[in-house]
Amino acid sequence: MPNPSDNLRINADRLWDSIHELAKIGPGIAGGSNRQTLTDADAEGRKLFKKWCDDAGLTMGVDQMGTMFARREGTEPDLDPVYVGSHLDTQPTGGRYDGVLGVLSALELVRTLNDLGIRTRRPIVIVNWTNEEGARFAPAMMASGVFAGQFSLDYAYGRKDPDGKTFGDELKRIGWVGDEKVGARRMHAYFEYHIEQGPILEAERKQVGVVTHGQGLWWLEFTLTGKEAHTGSTPMNMRVNAGLAMARIFEMVQRIAMDNQPGAVGGVGQVFFSPNSRNVLPGKVVFTVDIRSPDQAKLDAMRARIEAEAPEICEALGVKCAIEPVGHFDPVTFDPTLVARVRKAAEDLGYSHMNIISGAGHDACWAAKVAPATMIMCPCVDGLSHNEAENISKEWAEGGADVLLRAVLETAEIVP
Ligand code: GLV
Ligand code: MN
Ligand code: MN
Repeated sequence: MPNPSDNLRINADRLWDSIHELAKIGPGIAGGSNRQTLTDADAEGRKLFKKWCDDAGLTMGVDQMGTMFARREGTEPDLDPVYVGSHLDTQPTGGRYDGVLGVLSALELVRTLNDLGIRTRRPIVIVNWTNEEGARFAPAMMASGVFAGQFSLDYAYGRKDPDGKTFGDELKRIGWVGDEKVGARRMHAYFEYHIEQGPILEAERKQVGVVTHGQGLWWLEFTLTGKEAHTGSTPMNMRVNAGLAMARIFEMVQRIAMDNQPGAVGGVGQVFFSPNSRNVLPGKVVFTVDIRSPDQAKLDAMRARIEAEAPEICEALGVKCAIEPVGHFDPVTFDPTLVARVRKAAEDLGYSHMNIISGAGHDACWAAKVAPATMIMCPCVDGLSHNEAENISKEWAEGGADVLLRAVLETAEIVP
């Protein structure tokens, strides 16, 4: 008997239209998106996604972290479902595809099954994880982290944005506190489709990335305390300059990352410089060092060196230095059976493909703690992401979504 999935393809036009329809909500200032987690724009985006799920006949569950789970029933509802997801929140100057491609490809997959009247033994559940980005509230991948038992619900609810608003209050404010206990669901498998956010697939001219590993990460939040003083009248030898200490720490992070090549990165993306006035030496500087590597030993060694050298740098300048880890995950190895399934799906469908390691963090990294998990990637132009100019082609989006459909169907098992 022929395999009913042999020639199945998603509807690329419909996927593309949905992505750009959602991008109208929380538009950025340069063609991208600003739909940061738990903002009004996030709430509006969720509402549209929920409507699309309702229209597709799905049943929506929401947990206490606000994560959305849209279920398509299987013919054997008691079997653990196959989960397919990503995130709809964005960076403040984010692109249209980071996260969105994964959630809406999962929706497109379900719409395709509906069109064709295909049923599966296992239920299929689409997930929109809350606060993947960690732009507003650290850490990133917060809801999937609570789901996987990495953080407590109280810890997550107490996290503050730069204005001092808590995650718990903001989740309540936008009306998305669900009643489901976080992590209560059992997953048979978890799939996540995402843009690469790096330059490799495009350079290698491959349409599909078969993601075998994810690199590990530390976020180290520094608080440097100096002394506010006049930039003109304070002699150089009397300054306690937290800004200078910050600059030296930036250089140190760069040096340590370079010492660990290949396969390590380090940098700083966020700084709060206080009082941030042209002619005042800063009294307080808060910033987060982001270091990553697929190699656990390198990652740990980089953190140890940073924590050893930063206090020395600060001491030499009379600046006080406090370091708090605000984000972490170990390097991840994705499930070999699911990885092989994704590779075979790409091959069967005739898409060029290669193995790839994810440079970014993803909810799949936490899901992998509680279920067999894997990811699929598509190229993005110039490897650019976390930038409003982030771009992919409809054909690139389509390839990975076809592979997702095929791999998920094999896992959820088509009913002949
Ligand atoms: C999440 O997007 C991360 O990799 O920082
Ligand atoms: Mn993402
Ligand atoms: Mn992102």
